[in-house]
Amino acid sequence: MESDPQTQALRVRRMSWEADDVLSIVLGSDDRADLPPFSCGAHIDLILRPDLIRQYSLCSDPAKKTEWTIAVLLERESRGGSTYVHSVLRPGMLVSATGPRNNFPLVDAEQYLFIAGGIGITPILPMVAEVERQSKNWALLYGGRRRASMAFLDELSQYGSKVVVTPQDECGLLDLKAAIDPLPTHAAVYCCGPEPLIAAVEATCSELGRAEPHVERFKARAQPIGCDRDEHNEPFELVLSKSGKRVTIPADKTIIEVLEDAGIYVPTSCEEGFCGTCETEVVSGTPDHRDEYLTDAERANNKSMMICVGRSKTPVLELRI
Ligand code: FES
Repeated sequence: MESDPQTQALRVRRMSWEADDVLSIVLGSDDRADLPPFSCGAHIDLILRPDLIRQYSLCSDPAKKTEWTIAVLLERESRGGSTYVHSVLRPGMLVSATGPRNNFPLVDAEQYLFIAGGIGITPILPMVAEVERQSKNWALLYGGRRRASMAFLDELSQYGSKVVVTPQDECGLLDLKAAIDPLPTHAAVYCCGPEPLIAAVEATCSELGRAEPHVERFKARAQPIGCDRDEHNEPFELVLSKSGKRVTIPADKTIIEVLEDAGIYVPTSCEEGFCGTCETEVVSGTPDHRDEYLTDAERANNKSMMICVGRSKTPVLELRI
């Protein structure tokens, strides 16, 4: 994982079309200084406005220290982030970003199968460049709706037959079983893309008795494990350690909602427990984690929690707010 997130003021240096509805954005500091280092699979939180924070994978080469590149798909059902990037953001503008953070790191393996769907290609790009540099055995299955909607095809063409491009309107869906079944057990499987693709890769690996794939989600699972507003939620007391203030979190509200009602600002983005933006340090009490961001080990040590979905297992929970 990268070190603690810092906020950077970044200038939009260039923007270019990578495919239909996909813009790449090159960001750098005004003094052309090195930006914080990142590893393959990392993302930044782009603060487009104080109330509009979105995560984007870094798709540039980590060795390029003075620039970060992200690519943004214009989502038809945008919650604001992609529309802002496509219609407001322009070269020369300043934005802020925190990070990089990495919850999709490239593990060391002898062989890799990467599976990308649509804009899910972004974190995979630096990964394939890295494993190619290491002369590892690898392949990439890259699916998309149409060829014209698939970003970075030119860049990927340098890898020849290691990259299998599968536009759905020409070839149908990716044949996951045919790709995963012949892999040796030590091969690492990576997937990023829409939820149905990730769920299908997870199901195929499970069916074939393989280790779980490494995945990164842009949205919560179809069956969210987040805060369901049912009557089984218990109310609890929340103590804000910086001020000593106490608030009650009722059964039908999240911590974030109560804090907002009290005029206390905490950065949020997905509000579904998968992006990590609202991660908050736990001072005392036992959190009831309901997120998809923390690892099992991080959940077990209870040092932090996602307060957009998490609740408390103890009657009182104290957070570093
Ligand atoms: Fe995304 Fe809480 S806002 S995890």
